[in-house]
Amino acid sequence: MSEQTSTAPLTTIDKIGEHVGQTVTLRGWLYNLRESGKLVFPIFRDGTGTIQGVAHKAGVSPEVFEALKGLTQESSVIVTGAVRADARAHGGFELDVQGLEVVQRVPEADPFPISLKEHGTDFLMEHRHLWVRTPRQSAILRIRAEIMRAAGEYFDSNGFIRTDPPILTPAACEGTSTLFPVDYFGDPAFLTQSGQLYIESTALALGKVYSFGPTFRAEKSKTRRHLTEFWMIEPECAYMELDGLLELAENFLTHIVKSVLKNREPELKVIGRDIEKLRKIDAPFPRLRYDEAAEMLNQAYKDGKLEAPFEYGNDFGSPDETWLSSQFDRPVMVHRYPADVKAFYMEPDPKDGRFALCVDVLAPEGYGEIIGGSQRVSSYELLKSRIEAHKLPLEAFQWYLDLRRYGSVPHAGFGMGIERAVAWICGLEHVRETIPFARTLNRIYP
Ligand code: 4AD
Ligand code: MG
Repeated sequence: MSEQTSTAPLTTIDKIGEHVGQTVTLRGWLYNLRESGKLVFPIFRDGTGTIQGVAHKAGVSPEVFEALKGLTQESSVIVTGAVRADARAHGGFELDVQGLEVVQRVPEADPFPISLKEHGTDFLMEHRHLWVRTPRQSAILRIRAEIMRAAGEYFDSNGFIRTDPPILTPAACEGTSTLFPVDYFGDPAFLTQSGQLYIESTALALGKVYSFGPTFRAEKSKTRRHLTEFWMIEPECAYMELDGLLELAENFLTHIVKSVLKNREPELKVIGRDIEKLRKIDAPFPRLRYDEAAEMLNQAYKDGKLEAPFEYGNDFGSPDETWLSSQFDRPVMVHRYPADVKAFYMEPDPKDGRFALCVDVLAPEGYGEIIGGSQRVSSYELLKSRIEAHKLPLEAFQWYLDLRRYGSVPHAGFGMGIERAVAWICGLEHVRETIPFARTLNRIYP
């Protein structure tokens, strides 16, 4: 330890620009080190960013020079140095190192497992607890946090009340085949697939509400869009119909993207995101009926742009969504799917009952569905017959039917999976990098 470390003011790398010409202290880790004779170039990270340091043998004490030389990756350090603006440096600043305290030196014999060379995905996921330290993964997590913050902010500042639904539930919301069972003191229970049914209740109590929490899906899917545990944010509004819901969805998404551009541009650059594509995101978004989308898919197949023909009446498959959503430079809102392929609670279109008053919002650049929502069945009789037709246990839904017995109104809501939104906004291949610890078919460690 050198004497300078104690006196210089403490700061963080994201605020380093406010200290040009001053000597400051940073607390962090050694990210990388280059040595060239009497010069060492350590790169430090502190969670807010990275900065390159420079230490000349003649410019620091022998102890500091010796401690820096051969210092191992991810050793924790408290470093003091003078901040210099340097247009060539990554981030625009460099640190002329003066003092260094090594808090813990990673031993040579047991080095940090994630070196700067390429590693396979399985290896990285196995070491996710350490992988999150790398600049790219940290930047993604910072962007994720901003997306969650902005999403909550949108509802909080537009008259929505956050009401938290239970996670342990007695019944299905999104189909019985994808439930995780739990033994609830001898009774069967399930991890929730969505807070929707419960926030329909609080919407009829409070007007406009939202929920934000973990949700679970047990299907054995290995696609790059699927997690078994993910975070969903769901608004629900009394006296809202499908048109109002589409406007809500486009304003909500626009707010999120603009917030990320405003507050997390350096992180977008760290991960190499094409920022111009995000700048194009603005309401209104294009709207397509399911029928029109189906026609586009047929044409695409005829033109040889899709491998398999689209069968009218089905839900869209992954390749269909990928193709559709790459036809637009902003999210496209596909509405009025055939009622038969959608959930039991969706209100039929009064103009043609074969279709549901529902919407899927498909993110551009091939990302596909990030939002699913609908107007809800408001008639008691219809909802009861739907529950029966879907072979759901009527007793478990009596409370839900009560919402149609006592002051039923048209109401609507949607759910957005945070990880799908992060994958799109960050331009990632796979949702596994969008959440600190992904839960997938083959992974529940670490
Ligand atoms: O379309 P979904 O299944 O809709 C519902 O759950 C409704 N009850 C929501 C509502 O109307 N309040 O799921 C909503 C969103 C999807 O659009 C997607 O973004 C995300 O949740 N999602 C998943 N994300 C990651 N992994 C999965 N397995 C997901 N399943 C759904
Ligand atoms: Mg859906």
